[in-house]
Amino acid sequence: MTREMENPPNAPFPGRKRRVRASGGSEKGKAIPFYGRRKGKKLRSFQSNLMEELLPLVRLDLSGPLDLKAAFGASHRDIWLEIGFGGGEHLIQEAVRFPQTGFIGCEPFVNGLAKALAGMAGADLCNVRVHGGEAQAVIAALPPESLSGVYLLYPDPWPKRRHRKRRFVSDETLNALARVMRKGAELRFATDIDDYAGWTLARILRNPHFEWRAQGADDWRKPWDGWSSTRYEEKARREGRVSAYMTFVKV
Ligand SMILES: C[S@@+](CC[C@H](N)C(=O)[O-])C[C@H]1O[C@@H](n2cnc3c(N)ncnc32)[C@H](O)[C@@H]1O
Repeated sequence: MTREMENPPNAPFPGRKRRVRASGGSEKGKAIPFYGRRKGKKLRSFQSNLMEELLPLVRLDLSGPLDLKAAFGASHRDIWLEIGFGGGEHLIQEAVRFPQTGFIGCEPFVNGLAKALAGMAGADLCNVRVHGGEAQAVIAALPPESLSGVYLLYPDPWPKRRHRKRRFVSDETLNALARVMRKGAELRFATDIDDYAGWTLARILRNPHFEWRAQGADDWRKPWDGWSSTRYEEKARREGRVSAYMTFVKV
């Protein structure tokens, strides 16, 4: 059976049972540091069912280089990546808004993944594929210049100075993203932590592959067109923190 047949890109999800492989942590023996939570409360039974039945159908195959045509079908020419989608609210809303675009979501937190699967099933989405682990593994497996855009929304802030090196944004991850982003592709970054905005900007400005083309304050104070708030953003607002929305262009 071909991968395309196992994982039909444009068909509703057939409810076939397959074993769920634990994912995340490392791919092909390469350890990826991860400091966040992988598990929360015990999953409800419908969530466990989705993990068993739906996840194998929408999970990216990272056993080798990623074959995006097999994963999404030839009609999805634009592919976007969302790193750390939390409960998947934004990922799902974007996938509903842009049915012709393929979306890859990465999230190591199992409860978030299960929530997103429920949302995907509810919206009957066929244009989302997921990886229940660190985004670095997906980025490493992607073909060069294959992404039209990347969302990095409220990555874990790691506010303590000694923990800052745990932040997702680094020279290394920006270079890895640059490899897989097309010329003109956007990296959309949101944070409610001023220090993380400055940290990211410093690394973007010294990176030859990205440009920040902001002209005025509205460019980082206003979210993107069609924006729907994320769960973490709501929490930040309730706690009185203001967000920055930054768009970096791959050159
Ligand atoms: C602060 S939460 C924000 C979640 C969501 N983007 C939102 O705005 O509601 C950060 C998320 O990034 C995920 N995360 C952390 N490291 C990651 C990595 N290396 N790859 C993918 N996701 C990661 C965490 O599990 C967590 O769910």
